[in-house]
Amino acid sequence: MRTRMQVGIVGAGPAGLLLSHLLHRAGIESIVLENRSRDYVEHRVRAGVLEQSPVDLLKAAGVGDRLAREGLVHRGIELRFGGRGHRVDFPSLTGGRTITVYGQQEVVKDLIQARLDAGGQILFEVTDVSVHDLESAAPRIRYRSGDESHEIECDIIAGCDGFHGICRPAIPDHEEHVFERTYPFAWLGILARAAPSHEELIYAYHERGFALFSMRSPEITRLYLQVAPDENLADWPDERIWRELHTRLETGDGWKLNEGPVLEKGITPMRSYVCEKMQHGRLFLAGDAAHIVPPTGAQGMNLAVADVNVLARALSEFFRTARKDQLDAYSQTCLKRVWRAEHFSWWMTSMLHRFPGDDGFQQRLQRSQLDYTVGSRAAAASLAENYVGLPFE
Ligand code: APR
Ligand code: PHB
Repeated sequence: MRTRMQVGIVGAGPAGLLLSHLLHRAGIESIVLENRSRDYVEHRVRAGVLEQSPVDLLKAAGVGDRLAREGLVHRGIELRFGGRGHRVDFPSLTGGRTITVYGQQEVVKDLIQARLDAGGQILFEVTDVSVHDLESAAPRIRYRSGDESHEIECDIIAGCDGFHGICRPAIPDHEEHVFERTYPFAWLGILARAAPSHEELIYAYHERGFALFSMRSPEITRLYLQVAPDENLADWPDERIWRELHTRLETGDGWKLNEGPVLEKGITPMRSYVCEKMQHGRLFLAGDAAHIVPPTGAQGMNLAVADVNVLARALSEFFRTARKDQLDAYSQTCLKRVWRAEHFSWWMTSMLHRFPGDDGFQQRLQRSQLDYTVGSRAAAASLAENYVGLPFE
C-alpha cells in the first residue's frame, strides 16, 4: 500500500501530536505513526509541569480548555534545606509568569481527541517503522500494520519518536554531534492516591539524598527520591519509600506528608543528552528524539513543545512559499533554548543531589549556592526565570 502525505510524523507523544495539530491549523496535512496503543500513550505517567509559554500556546491553538479548567496554576516552588523551607515566588520575580501542573498524559489525551475530532490520522500499534531517502525531495516512511506493509511518500518527515526511537539513528553521522552526561544517581518516582499536603512543589536537599514533592490533581500526589543508578525497584517496598520520603521531606515544623495507596512506581535514570544535528535532508527531529534533560528543572515536555512550535512555523513558511530559510535554521534556532534548558537542569541537579564519594567539598558548595539562591533577589530571579521558561519568540 502506497500513499502520499505532506508531513509524516513518527511518534504520538506531546511533540508529534502537537506538531500534527499545529500543522492542521496551518492547512498542512500530516499523519502520525505510533508503535504503542492509544490506551498506553494516554496512561503513561511522565512529566507534569508546563511553563507559561507552552500553556499560552496550547490555549491559543484551541487545545487548552481542559488545561485551563483542571491544570493547577503554581506561583512558586519551595527549596527545602537546612531544616526549613524557602519559597521562590515566580510572578514577582518574572514579571507575572507562572507554571501549570498538568500531567503529560493529559496533554496527550487532549491532543489525540483534537486530532481525531478534526479527522486527523493517528495510526496506533504500527510496527517496523523505518525512514528512507532522507536526502531526496520525497522521503519515505515504511511501516507494517497487521500483516500489511505500507509506504508513505512525504515532503517532510518529523522524528518525534522519543529518546529510543528510530529517527535519530537514521541520521548517518548523528553520533559525531552528540554531547552527553550521565549522573551517578536515578529517581525513584511514585504516584499516590493522596491529597497533596502542600500547595506547591517542594525540592528537598537532604543528607540522605534529594527528594521532590509534586502532584497531579487535588487527589493525586507525585513523589520522587534520589536513589543509586542501579537501584532495584524490588528492594523498595512501599513502607521503605514512605519512610524515606518522610525523612527527607519533613523538617520538624509540624508539616506532614500525606500517604495513600501507591498507584505507580518506577525508576528513571538521570542524563543530559543533546544531538546537535536535529535535521538531515528532509528529516527533522523534535523533543526527546533530539535531547534529554534530567527532570530536576521540569523542562522536558516544555522543550518538546518549543521545538514543534519552531518546526510548525518553518513548515508553514515552506509549504506556503517554498522558502527553506526557517527550515534550514531549525537546529540552530532550537539549540539556543535547548542549551539553556540543559544548563538549568544540570545546575538544579548539581545543586540538589548528593554525589557519591563527595568528601564534603561539593556539599559546602551546594549549601552556599542554596543560601545564595534564596538570599539574593538576583539569584532567585535567575532560578525563577529559567523555571517558568523564557518566552517563545
Ligand atoms: N515507531 C513509532 N513510534 C515510536 C517509535 C517507533 N519506532 N519509537 C518510539 N515511538 C513513540 C513512543 O511510543 C512515544 O509515544 O514515540 C513517542 C515519543 O513520545 P515521548 O517519548 O513522549 O517524546 P516527546 O513527544 O518528545 O515528549 C517529550 O516526554 O520523556 C518525556 O520528559 C520528556 O516530557 C518530555 C516528553
Ligand atoms: C513531576 O510532577 O513529575 C515533576 C515535577 C517537577 C520536576 C520533575 C517532575 O522537576
